[in-house]
Amino acid sequence: MKPRDYDLSAFWMPFTANRQFKAAPRILVSAKDMHYIAEDGRRILDGTAGMWCVNAGHCRPRIVEAIKKAAETMDYGPIFQMGHPGPFKVAERLRTMLPGDLDYSFFTNSGSESVDTALKIALAYHRARGEGHRRWLIGRERGYHGVGFGGTSVGGMAPNRKAFASLLSYVDHLPHTHNLEHNSFSRGQPEWGAHLADELESRIIALHDASNIAAVIVEPVAGSTGVLPPPKGYLERVRAICDKHGILLIFDEVINGFGRLGASFACERLGIVPDMVTMAKGITNATVPMGAVAVRRHIHEAVMNAAPENSIELFHGYTYSGHPLAAAAALATLDLYAEEKLFERARQMEQYFEDAVHSLREAPHVVDIRNFGMMAGIELETMPGKPGARGYQALVRAFERGILVRVTGDIIALSPPLIAEKSHVDELTGTLGEVLRGLD
Ligand SMILES: Cc1ncc(COP(=O)(O)O)c(C=O)c1O
Repeated sequence: MKPRDYDLSAFWMPFTANRQFKAAPRILVSAKDMHYIAEDGRRILDGTAGMWCVNAGHCRPRIVEAIKKAAETMDYGPIFQMGHPGPFKVAERLRTMLPGDLDYSFFTNSGSESVDTALKIALAYHRARGEGHRRWLIGRERGYHGVGFGGTSVGGMAPNRKAFASLLSYVDHLPHTHNLEHNSFSRGQPEWGAHLADELESRIIALHDASNIAAVIVEPVAGSTGVLPPPKGYLERVRAICDKHGILLIFDEVINGFGRLGASFACERLGIVPDMVTMAKGITNATVPMGAVAVRRHIHEAVMNAAPENSIELFHGYTYSGHPLAAAAALATLDLYAEEKLFERARQMEQYFEDAVHSLREAPHVVDIRNFGMMAGIELETMPGKPGARGYQALVRAFERGILVRVTGDIIALSPPLIAEKSHVDELTGTLGEVLRGLD
């Protein structure tokens, strides 16, 4: 291994045990298709599509070329009161991919920005309709919606919240749907848990009154908390309650979108049309940061119509909204997904992947395995008094053996690129089985 020509100390790494990492770093230096290359030259099988985002596999020439060309043609274009072709084209494409009348897209640079944008649009929508008193935003326990103040507030992962005392006020949370007693080892959507949606009405609306609630935001399949597929009928009930009370429903599809569930979006797969969809990650195959919020026609119209003619309708946006490189990457990515039929491919691979991950059921420490689409969570028993220690050990040992997995606490998450062959799935679960058998 060549000695590093850089020092590790100055970079404050995100969501990382910095001191532990810097004492024994795991550095990746290149990538191609299903593999990373580590700095010591080892090939690492990507079991997580980077971080749930490299859905078409790494360094795909078509996307790389499109980015290069865009950089040469116009490196940047202002996007407030000016335009350039890329984002208009991407928005048109998204319109054809999304169900219902989710016809308008607002561009951001990340999932976190998409979430905060959607929450702001919800508030602006209600105000435009003369219901500015609708300020409550409802998330869900164990939800992850990024790291902006809005997303952190509606998010429900305790460690992400506890250090940041003053999050948004007027936020409440639905209960999560994870229950080992009723749902363990479910394949696909669990049978138990639809009734948990009723808390929206029986507790949250009863307490705050529907007339004060702007929006509910959920991940259809919660990802970062360790893969929690929605119980059968649960999201349908949430949709019905929101409809009954004029509350907007936001699906956070930052992970679920772009084929992860064997369809363009979870809302398409599940046959439920939310009022807004937040997305990022797979939109550009993670090559250039980009996020988007798709909104339904009534939301767009309400905000447009409330503003005086020839005035800015929504005072919101980012310097890099619809950046030319991101837009070029998105168009090439969406072409690639379509040409290689990667969403259909994911759907076809789903059963094989499910059987492979569930084959780990008898491995030591495993207390639950769950999956939906090309996402799976493997929950390990926590070491007494050491939450997360066993999960971290699994991550390190897996990396040593040449596979990349993600862990959240003591839950291992798998989400390989959608180009994965059966042999990759076998290697991933086979190696993980060996790792699990060797854990403390
Ligand atoms: C559902 C969901 N929302 C939002 C985000 C935040 O996205 P980003 O890290 O791009 O800000 C994530 C990231 O994993 C996510 O999974």
